[in-house]
Amino acid sequence: MRIGVYPGSFDPTTYGHTDIIERASKLVDTLYVSVLHNPDKVPHLTIEKRVELLKELTKDISNVIIEPFTGLLVDYVEKKNADMIIRSFRAISDFEYELQLAHTNHKLNSRVETIFLVSRNEYAYISSSMVKQIHKFGGDITMMVPKQTLDVLNQEQH
Ligand code: PNS
Repeated sequence: MRIGVYPGSFDPTTYGHTDIIERASKLVDTLYVSVLHNPDKVPHLTIEKRVELLKELTKDISNVIIEPFTGLLVDYVEKKNADMIIRSFRAISDFEYELQLAHTNHKLNSRVETIFLVSRNEYAYISSSMVKQIHKFGGDITMMVPKQTLDVLNQEQH
């Protein structure tokens, strides 16, 4: 049984994220999509909303489990008995941060491997922070996020 963990903030979930979830779910028997609950930071969407949205978006992928996590990622990975962390990068600009994350996690727990999926070309420009900014100023984000994400962001504004 191969178990993977795809961690992130998912604030909010974009097409970039859903693409990685679909592709990663085919590489493992069970994929945990693990949403960081960081008590020191105020996210745009609450942890409950981010988890609920991901559950809705992945309801047709039977081997995906959505969970919040807090604390160190490597501790969570151990608890889940997972074999790998799955991350992705869109461009060279992501690479340095991702490399540091992977090295740090490997130093903290040498059993843990990080596997990278390269973002699809058509999604490589999408980021959650830009999505939030564009939406805030009334721009069109329909090509960047699923309809359910747009609905949640619209509800937040009212
Ligand atoms: O979507 P993000 O914000 O790029 O995801 C970052 C995440 C959640 C993978 C990272 O911040 C994380 O693992 N945080 C948990 C705390 C931790 O383990 N820190 C040590 C490694 S930097």
